[in-house]
Amino acid sequence: MQAGTQNKKLKTSSKNVAGRGVESTSYQNRFVKGIPFKFDYEASVESTEVVKIKSQNELFIGGKFVKPQSGKYFKTLNPATENVLAEVAEANSTDVDLAVLAARKAFATWSKLSGHERGRYLFKIARIIQERAREVAILESLDNGKPIKETRDVDTPLAAAHFFYHAGWADKLEYVVPGRSVAPLGVVGQIIPWNFPLLMAAWKIAPALACGNTVVLKPAETTPLTALLLAEIIQQAELPEGVVNIVTGAGETGANLVDHPDVNKIAFTGSTDIGRRIQKAIAGTQKRLTLELGGKSAHIIFEDAAIDQAIEGVINGIYFNQGHVCCAGSRLLLEESISELFVKKLKKRMQKIRIGNPLDKNTDIGAINSAGELQKIQNLVGVGKTEGGEFFEPNLTLPSKGYFHKPCFFNGVSSAATLSRVEVFGPVLTIATFRTPEEAVLKANDTPYGLAAGLWSEKGSKIHKVASRLRAGVIWANTYNKFDPTSPFGGYYESGFGREGGRHGLLGYLEVK
Ligand code: NAI
Ligand code: MG
Repeated sequence: MQAGTQNKKLKTSSKNVAGRGVESTSYQNRFVKGIPFKFDYEASVESTEVVKIKSQNELFIGGKFVKPQSGKYFKTLNPATENVLAEVAEANSTDVDLAVLAARKAFATWSKLSGHERGRYLFKIARIIQERAREVAILESLDNGKPIKETRDVDTPLAAAHFFYHAGWADKLEYVVPGRSVAPLGVVGQIIPWNFPLLMAAWKIAPALACGNTVVLKPAETTPLTALLLAEIIQQAELPEGVVNIVTGAGETGANLVDHPDVNKIAFTGSTDIGRRIQKAIAGTQKRLTLELGGKSAHIIFEDAAIDQAIEGVINGIYFNQGHVCCAGSRLLLEESISELFVKKLKKRMQKIRIGNPLDKNTDIGAINSAGELQKIQNLVGVGKTEGGEFFEPNLTLPSKGYFHKPCFFNGVSSAATLSRVEVFGPVLTIATFRTPEEAVLKANDTPYGLAAGLWSEKGSKIHKVASRLRAGVIWANTYNKFDPTSPFGGYYESGFGREGGRHGLLGYLEVK
């Protein structure tokens, strides 16, 4: 199908836009109730009917939206159309200074509030996220390129869940470390990536506030809009001024936050390279640090696994969110006896993947977040093709505009090959085989990373035995990419240190006395 016909096809499928679906579950009904949709690809991809995108977006400092000192703005795009969505303020060191100052001032009162009162604010934020879920999900799909199915069913509900969960902790901090008293750290600088923009903001802000800290958060430069929508929600929840401040900008803004002398802790999620740079920058200071970095996670399928379910698990493990997932199951390890059958079934399943308009509720794979990321993926696939193994991509048509990449895999790749070692951060899978559980463990652990792993077997004892020997912070059995605020998340080695979520995540925002 040519790109033109793809657009024409989209024009006729108006019912499917943004969750207004043919098959409607009660959840979908609740979600989309009463929202009229005229269908036209361009308009729907940049719908202003549901989401009012301001053409110029300011910084959020001391509870107010303020202009940047530099007077400079940068553009954020819709990666599915390559059109500019909005201009966003670029914070310089003076703006970062003002944000830290506002957070420091707010800390004096926020840290003295009772846990019960702090919890009430967090509950309120969670509830407003739920109330405005549709707007949040659409804005996220527009700015990031990820399918509405994911922003609607994963990112937005999970962001609310992080606020709900931590609201519950706010008045129970004495149980974080039983028998010891705890205190907040102070002003926390948080730097987040573009792959889960709102979810990462919630994931970072909620525990920090529950513990009594105040925050300066810097979203990624290609996806700043939902963090700014969260700022609006925070205003609506009447959170005291300065408790959360949001400074938009690129790496330099982040570096200004890292270098600021009055910040007590940096929490970073992003690339291993920048993580390393931040670690160096704060070495020798009093600042605390947690790093959540990259991964090259193994996904192991034993011959006794439920094969069709495992196929779905593998699809979700690597192609969810275009593969822009730090814990993506990017190295598939198949028990040799089932490898041929598994690969055959995987190819057939991949042919059914729907790629394209992120606002179409049937879309499985949306747009790659930026031209730079697309280029990086294409380059690595190019390297993969020179290193051997069978390359497969399904016969799918990509939209004529926007940054898209077909889901693909390399079968029979050695563990020394580039694609077995380097994080692609895209819809690219490598496949290798093993004969014994010991070999599976050896291959799975043969990586500089250690964020996650998955295994599929019908045998509980095998799952426990193998899982105990995998060096990864998160291990899924008979599922993959399931997230829950009650469960600590984080990695070994080059995947970083510190945990986020659960009781352990709170330790990153508390001083134990
Ligand atoms: P990045 O690590 O450069 O960006 C993450 C965040 O750090 C952004 O907010 C960015 O503005 C900020 N930042 C950049 N330079 C900084 C500095 N010197 N000091 C402080 N903050 C700074 O990641 P990028 O360039 O967006 O993606 C590159 C690669 O990194 C991806 O292809 C992927 O392999 C990996 N990555 C991994 C993520 C994960 O969740 N583990 C998330 C994003 C990227
Ligand atoms: Mg964008």
